[in-house]
Amino acid sequence: MTDKLLEKLTNQLSPKRLEHSLGVSKAAAKLAERYGADAGKARLAGLLHDCARVMPSNILLQVAEASGIVVNDVEQREPMLLHAPVGAVIAARDYGVDDPEVLGAIRWHTTGGPHMTLLEEIVFLADYIEPRRTFPGVDRLRKLAKVSLDEALLSSYDQTLKHLLAEGGLIHPATVEGRNALLIRMKEK
Ligand SMILES: [Fe+2]
Ligand SMILES: [Fe+2]
Repeated sequence: MTDKLLEKLTNQLSPKRLEHSLGVSKAAAKLAERYGADAGKARLAGLLHDCARVMPSNILLQVAEASGIVVNDVEQREPMLLHAPVGAVIAARDYGVDDPEVLGAIRWHTTGGPHMTLLEEIVFLADYIEPRRTFPGVDRLRKLAKVSLDEALLSSYDQTLKHLLAEGGLIHPATVEGRNALLIRMKEK
């Protein structure tokens, strides 16, 4: 991880968002060590995962379209969800990341999905449990993440779905598919 990359990110993100990104980076590296993924890749993906979070909706939609990202109905109405796939594009274009595993972890960090790699799961989970997070149940989730990656992932999906149901929000299909795939995997174990 170069100083230049960090400097660039510092210029892009608000201090709060930068703190969050550093927290995700550290949490992802720890999870990678625990569960046998590449800690360097986890650290880099965690650091850059929200690099497109500052883009306004119209720009997210524009970059998505220009990059060949297929925008579904939910993303059309909630363009902020696109900061994950667009973030992967920006990480490659502006930060020089060419590792497909790192880019994948940025790509799937918000919705989750049914075909995630271990590194992708780790960054997805790290985004929930980094030290700045304060939602009810986060301490339980942090403890769970030390014992079982699958249980912690399931709990993260459940948390997202409960929140969206309570808010009457749209549910991204990848979140439903990701949770189903995870549950099936857990039952087959
Ligand atoms: Fe994000
Ligand atoms: Fe994040």
